[in-house]
Amino acid sequence: AQSAKESLYIVSQYASAFFVKQLWDTEEGRGIGLSYFKERGFREDILKKFEVGYSPDVWDALTQSATNAGHKLEFLESTGLSIKNDSGKIYDRFRGRVMFPIHNFTGRIIGFGGRTLKTDKNVPKYVNSPESEIYHKSNVLYGLFHAKKAIRDLDNCYLAEGYADVLSVHQAGIENVVASSGTSLTVEQIKLIGRFTQNITILFDGDAAGIKASLRGLDMILEEGLNVKIVSFPDGHDPDSYMHHVGAGAFKTYLEQNRKDFILYKANVLLKDAGNDPIKRAGIIRDIVESIAKIPDQIKASVFIRECSSLLEISEQVLSGELTKMRSAKL
Ligand code: CTP
Ligand code: MN
Ligand code: MN
Ligand code: MN
Ligand code: MN
Repeated sequence: AQSAKESLYIVSQYASAFFVKQLWDTEEGRGIGLSYFKERGFREDILKKFEVGYSPDVWDALTQSATNAGHKLEFLESTGLSIKNDSGKIYDRFRGRVMFPIHNFTGRIIGFGGRTLKTDKNVPKYVNSPESEIYHKSNVLYGLFHAKKAIRDLDNCYLAEGYADVLSVHQAGIENVVASSGTSLTVEQIKLIGRFTQNITILFDGDAAGIKASLRGLDMILEEGLNVKIVSFPDGHDPDSYMHHVGAGAFKTYLEQNRKDFILYKANVLLKDAGNDPIKRAGIIRDIVESIAKIPDQIKASVFIRECSSLLEISEQVLSGELTKMRSAKL
């Protein structure tokens, strides 16, 4: 007999095909879902490549279709595609949303993110599949299956926040991109990238949350011994909106010309708040050395100490002293 786990993969694949069919072959799907994607500037080949779909705006379209096709309710429920309410009524988790299937890195569908089409602030923008036997959020990177070859070939991985970012960066002809999607970046996700490259370039949103997340992310990446660079976007933009704003060619150029190493990035971000206050500036220097102290490789760390020294005009000796103190405090 087929394992329960295999049944979860199969029902997820069924759901994905169902959502794809709804998007392209129904009036509601084309009129609402497909036109939404088109208005956002997505090309059809990209929509097809990522197998995006549409979930009809009724209570149990998928549940009905899947059970009629012979799929057991048990598996629809354990993938979270169907939900049983307190009075025993079964309904679809995803209704009236555009659907992004999440593949594991071997290409099997393990979960979904569904984006609302409403602008109502009370409706959650994204609904995601819950954890299941086949979907462990913290171990998954959205887009890795479609990116892994390019990541290896180009020896770099762009790391974005969201589903739309991955699609848009692809549309600009850049295929080595993944997103942490639906969770803040985890150590497991960094280790997963580490199987394909040692170089990560963060492309987080240019809002306060994105900047905060990128500072946290870069420390985690350094701690795992990988190299990290950052490209930041003008406030209010994320990679998706910026790509559509400036166009594919200019977007590519922007990525190439705005890649900063973490010292320069941190210095830029933190100095903006500090102004000329010497106490604050000292705090920033310590903050940067704290990041350097996370780098396991001592030789690499010393290279960054030198850069920090020239950038912030502090003697290398003082910085090295501080580094040694921080390292021994960690032990
Ligand atoms: N996210 C989520 N639940 C939310 C909001 C966000 O799971 N309520 C996840 C999604 O994976 C989303 C990512 O966090 O793609 C980044 O969030 P955000 O920047 O708010 O969304 P965008 O990806 O920019 O979505 P869009 O461009 O469609 O507005
Ligand atoms: Mn597929
Ligand atoms: Mn954001
Ligand atoms: Mn965003
Ligand atoms: Mn966005």
